[in-house]
Amino acid sequence: MSFQECISCHEKYGIDEIVYFCRKCGDILEIKSDLGKAAVTVKSVGYRESALSVWRYRCFMPIGDASDVVSLSEGGTGLHRSERLGEALGLSDLWVKNEGENPTGSFKDRGMTVGVTKAVELGARHVICASTGNTSASLAAYAARAGIRCTVLIPSGKIAYGKLSQAMIHGAKVLQVRGNFDEALGFVLKLAEKHRSIYLLNSINPFRIEGQKSLGFEICEQLGGNAPDRLIVPVGNAGNISAIWKGFSEFYQLGLISKLPKMTGIQAAGSAPIVKAVKSHSCKIVPVAEPETVATAIRIGAPVSWKKAINAINESHGTAETVTDEEILDAQKLLAQIEGIFVEPASASSIAGLKKLVRNGIINKNERVVCVTTGHGLKDPDIAVKMGEKPVEVDAEMSAIENALGIKSK
Ligand code: F0G
Repeated sequence: MSFQECISCHEKYGIDEIVYFCRKCGDILEIKSDLGKAAVTVKSVGYRESALSVWRYRCFMPIGDASDVVSLSEGGTGLHRSERLGEALGLSDLWVKNEGENPTGSFKDRGMTVGVTKAVELGARHVICASTGNTSASLAAYAARAGIRCTVLIPSGKIAYGKLSQAMIHGAKVLQVRGNFDEALGFVLKLAEKHRSIYLLNSINPFRIEGQKSLGFEICEQLGGNAPDRLIVPVGNAGNISAIWKGFSEFYQLGLISKLPKMTGIQAAGSAPIVKAVKSHSCKIVPVAEPETVATAIRIGAPVSWKKAINAINESHGTAETVTDEEILDAQKLLAQIEGIFVEPASASSIAGLKKLVRNGIINKNERVVCVTTGHGLKDPDIAVKMGEKPVEVDAEMSAIENALGIKSK
């Protein structure tokens, strides 16, 4: 049987208990999966023949056998061999796992399909989250799919338009809080404690992490049953790096992979409490009161899952690095123009981080590296339009078009 456990004092809670923080010490929880059941299932023909997706790994998910899954076909995203980008950065074995290919355009769907399925299983009729944009877009879609009420709290002024439009069209109640993400998260945590009928689906909810661990599983399977040498991922609230590490660790425990990758987290320079802690060998973060970056998705000063993230980085002998806004936007353009992969700025931070770590000699040129790009570029079209070459307006005449292209008329 799977159960929930506090990451600090190891107090245990039932799998169907609605509890977000340990009642004994106040720390966050994780799911201890029943790997015995998974070990049997992964050897079956049904498992081997099922398509790559989050629910291929149902045997790893703490969801009741009788539960109907709330799904929009999530996971099974491309792992793209990126030779041209590798060449540009001086790497021989580079891959991009493009999570923008998920139904709402980000990795959040992996967590939400499991989180909302659990919410329905527990009888919840109203779900809530705070978000820099993608979590709210995803929760709104899955709540609509499940036919339950959805409320999202977003920071004022800073949310990318694509994401806002998703939450709105899916019918979520959108509250724009006059404050930043960390403040909005503070409110939803209190709200969910105070009103027990509202189910919280930020990544503090360990069922979200369970869904997101499938990202690690998929990469191993796409690499023929091997983990990469290094995994690079943008870090905001720090749920995803923790989840991916859990995925790799569970595959390792089952003997499905023979080594673990170095987990490498990238934060924007203006909001990098985890990088600071890792670099100073501290086991505690100092929250950033006013985080700032063009990568609004990771504009987070007090990441909830910081302890899990630091543990993943240290245990895997990985590292963490900061990147400037300029480096992020350069990387976004580079990836779009030499690999055809359009990602939002936060996602491009993994590429920018890779570039910096290669330059600084931290990453070996022969390492097999997987960069996770977390969200689709269309989430934030304003940035792309601002950065790209402006359209050239021409008269509706062949000669004017040829002229603009520098082609001689025949
Ligand atoms: N990349 C993108 C595109 C994101 O939207 C987020 C987080 C991250 C990376 C960081 O992931 O928080 O698990 O470390 N976005 C959240 C949101 C906070 O509300 O959409 P993390």
